[in-house]
Amino acid sequence: MRLRVLAALAFLMAPLGGANAQEAAPLLHSHWSFDGIFGTYDKASAQRGFQIYSQICSACHSMNYMAYRNLAGIGLSPAQIKAVAAAVTVPGGLDDQGKETERPGRPSDTFKAPFPNDKAAEAAMGGALPPDQSLLVAARDGGPNYIYSLMQGYVDPPAGVQVPVGHYYNKYFPGHMIAMPPPLTDNAVTYADGTKATLAQEAHDVATFLTYTSYPQLDEQHSLGVRVLLFLIFMTIVTYIAKRRVWADVH
Ligand code: HEC
Repeated sequence: MRLRVLAALAFLMAPLGGANAQEAAPLLHSHWSFDGIFGTYDKASAQRGFQIYSQICSACHSMNYMAYRNLAGIGLSPAQIKAVAAAVTVPGGLDDQGKETERPGRPSDTFKAPFPNDKAAEAAMGGALPPDQSLLVAARDGGPNYIYSLMQGYVDPPAGVQVPVGHYYNKYFPGHMIAMPPPLTDNAVTYADGTKATLAQEAHDVATFLTYTSYPQLDEQHSLGVRVLLFLIFMTIVTYIAKRRVWADVH
């Protein structure tokens, strides 16, 4: 009898065991300057992350909710923003002959997308859509730690696991089979500020930049939070002194 119960239990557990093998590994954690209520973006890191986005991720991923002028939030000057925007060509409407024209980008333009639409992106990627990156950190469990881990999660598949054509094994991707080729390696970019471009550094920087694009108001919100706290402490002291004065003569 006991054996039969055990057998039944084993049968019930089997599919669970299978599902566990598919489960993603626990995420790596990096130290983030923007954590906590006093946190602010490390602008140098966010700028390096923007360099990675521009030189690598932007070949496949769009960033439709970011305008070039939003780069002011990571510390780019108006002149730098103008130069970044002017480096791309965007449709400029019709000319007098009704022909499509092109013009250099302006700070108010949104980031130029690599593909004209999702269908074209999917077709180029063998059917997998590279998601828009503007709000990706907000949309994924683990936020910046997920991006940080995913970038470093490409490993050889365990023995006996078949990786389908056009896919890669990533230990942090749910289901493990991801259609994105490993985008980062040591020295994938040469940082403009001279920082050593290790894989972990690049992963950290691009995650910082992608957190900024998801939460561009974070610095202001944190500084507002701190001011509200200071105000509350100040008001507590004022109220306390007032109470002492009001009750001073009551014996
Ligand atoms: C060669 C094209 C290509 C490049 C370059 C690329 N990606 Fe991707 N990315 C993809 C595709 C395709 C997917 C969809 C994968 C899937 O659904 O299996 C994807 C998915 C993702 C995802 C979502 C994973 C999820 O949980 O759904 C993240 C995050 C991501 N990419 C980050 C990046 C970052 C950061 C860079 C730059 C460092 C980058 N990608 C560069 C093609 C690319």
